Amino acid sequence: MTKLSLPQQSRLLSKDFLYGVATASFQIEGGYQDRLPCIWDTFCATEGKIADQSDGKIACDHYSLWQKDIELVASLGVDAYRLSISWPRVMTQDGKLNPIGVQFYIDILDELKRKNIKPFVTLYHWDLPQYLEDTGGWLDRETAFAFEHYVDLITKAFGDRVHSYATLNEPFCSAYLGYEAGIHAPGKKGKEYGRKAAHHLLLAHGLAMRVLKKNSPQSLNGIVLNFTPCYSSTDNEEDIKATQYADDYINQWYIKPIFDGQYPSIINSMPESMKPCIVDGDMDIIAEPIDYLGINFYTRSVYKADAQDIYQALPAQAPLTDIGWEIYPQAFTELLTSLNDLYKLPPIYITENGAAMADTLVDGKVDDQNRISYYQQHLNAVNDAVEQGVIVHGYFAWSLMDNFEWAEGYLKRFGIVYVDYKTQERTIKASGLAYRDLISQR
Ligand code: FCB
Repeated sequence: MTKLSLPQQSRLLSKDFLYGVATASFQIEGGYQDRLPCIWDTFCATEGKIADQSDGKIACDHYSLWQKDIELVASLGVDAYRLSISWPRVMTQDGKLNPIGVQFYIDILDELKRKNIKPFVTLYHWDLPQYLEDTGGWLDRETAFAFEHYVDLITKAFGDRVHSYATLNEPFCSAYLGYEAGIHAPGKKGKEYGRKAAHHLLLAHGLAMRVLKKNSPQSLNGIVLNFTPCYSSTDNEEDIKATQYADDYINQWYIKPIFDGQYPSIINSMPESMKPCIVDGDMDIIAEPIDYLGINFYTRSVYKADAQDIYQALPAQAPLTDIGWEIYPQAFTELLTSLNDLYKLPPIYITENGAAMADTLVDGKVDDQNRISYYQQHLNAVNDAVEQGVIVHGYFAWSLMDNFEWAEGYLKRFGIVYVDYKTQERTIKASGLAYRDLISQR
């Protein structure tokens, strides 16, 4: 298989369904010398945290090669490019804009405009300035206000250049992986931290939404959430209940406050030490209406009941991608339809979907049929949800190019473009060509 296709009448083939590719600042930029350190720099420098002991100092050197990279984006024929802003690149420690960093992004935004590509800008994709972590990071309520201030300044500087803003990317990962499981920066571990960090992240989101409405009313403003749908391993009531708890803890925790202004009811049975510190008025701020919801989907998880920890995830079963995540596209359709039933949703954009595969560059080509098949199955899954009444306005492939995959370093390749990290040469993979052809055929 080398082509991607959709049913002839599919909404995903209409001209106004938007296709894009996505990246994030720390994962591609490098250009370390021109910005302040972030929590991922510190995490990378800590032994044993990154699988290949790598860091983000150079990454894909997008900081130097951005013009070529935007050419590459344009050559794929996409309608939109999703990028993130490095907070420690655009802000100084005393709360002012750093003109060098701001200009870097303005140049990119202007180039995208010239090429008629819509910029989808994420304001926080995990690279918290280290000086803020030093005063408590997302465990400190003040960090939410620091974010509000940064968003105020940067959105004024960008003017009307941005088509869409996302306040945060995947607050689940920042809060849970970063402050509870300890496998992402800043690497804090403890049940007493995760919910507190999550609350301050969501507060930061709500505060930023209010700023966006003032400073950038013309753009589509929202948030990007990730979901790993939860399935019970058996039909036993115990396992089903445990799975529902996992879903509330991992998925609904981040979306319910935004649409319903409250956390899932499991909050009531949590020990006091785990509960977030909610101040009067916080939930109203968090529930500030959003113009769109960004959804990132990769895989599902299967659970059983656990006497000690309430739920336990079972090891992922084949078929797996190279990062060990189960390929289960049906969960994507079921996720979209279930969220649509549970909440009054604004239009959805699929802001990330894609797969890590063990690519090889042979004679200047990467023949990643396995990734094409992943995309095919997941585009079909989105199409199925749309046919069932879910409103989806766009789809972004993760990722434009191979990059720094967080705790996995450079070992896992998610790009539709191959990156040779020694030469910084980019090669469009078969999946990239198939994606380009699908888009151009509309
Ligand atoms: C998501 C992240 C993104 C990338 C993909 C594989 O959780 O948002 O940066 O790492 O996973």
